[in-house]
Amino acid sequence: MRSWRSYGGLFAVAAAALAACAGKKDAAPNYDGPWASLAERPCPPGNVVGYDNFGGPFMLTYCTGCHSSDLQGDLRRGAPPDVNFDTLGDIRKRAARIWTRAADGNATMPPAGSPKELERRRLGEWLACGAPGTHDGIITGTSGAGGAAGSATGAGGGVACKDTPSCSSCRDCAAASSCSAEVQACEMSASCSALAGCTQGCAGNDAKCQQNCATLHGGGQALYDKLAKCLLCGECKTICSAQASCQSP
Ligand code: HEC
Repeated sequence: MRSWRSYGGLFAVAAAALAACAGKKDAAPNYDGPWASLAERPCPPGNVVGYDNFGGPFMLTYCTGCHSSDLQGDLRRGAPPDVNFDTLGDIRKRAARIWTRAADGNATMPPAGSPKELERRRLGEWLACGAPGTHDGIITGTSGAGGAAGSATGAGGGVACKDTPSCSSCRDCAAASSCSAEVQACEMSASCSALAGCTQGCAGNDAKCQQNCATLHGGGQALYDKLAKCLLCGECKTICSAQASCQSP
């Protein structure tokens, strides 16, 4: 199985394919993981993931069905009586354990009905940034759990991707919103995901390694290029201009 970390690889090949300056490496800290604990997991610059646009709806969708102070006895389905995630305060108090059970590559909670990789990654970002948010009341399911979690993966809170401070944060934002169709198309193609997984192993400036991946998994190239173009030459075109030179179509 490929992992969400492929986006780093996607970016690497995108840069090789589109860049005038293919040798240039995105010198960002390692946001790819894996990390051993929440303490190690960095908060990405320009984080737009908050309580209202993601954290609250996520917990409501996936966790408070068992971990709510409103639930007693059998209704908790074995969830410890004192482990509740009804409020931002509750969540912050147990952030490290929530991360260890449910965020990034960790997937032992919920016991069934798994969040998507991208959602787990968002959860990791949100927790690593200190679970920002101003809402400290009881979570209410205003917009419906599914819809809320869906919009949460986008550039919620009215923040446009291009207003995030770096190319990598813009790219991540676009992957979850304006380019989500392209991301999905690549994920559903075995050869495109294989290409993404392969390039993940290449250093950002190792054009030969990336070329080998392209040769091995050439069938995925078209979808891959489409995704790369969307991520780097769409709404992130300006902020990513140092990484990719985008020709007009
Ligand atoms: C179907 C019910 C159910 C759902 C939904 C659920 N849990 Fe749990 N949770 C449990 C049970 C049962 C335990 C105790 C057994 C265990 O620790 O595996 C538990 C224990 C925990 C603990 C305490 C143990 C520890 O490792 O510190 C944490 C933290 C936790 N869950 C986090 C979450 C998060 C985060 C979610 C949502 C992503 C979630 N759970 C969703 C049933 C659930």
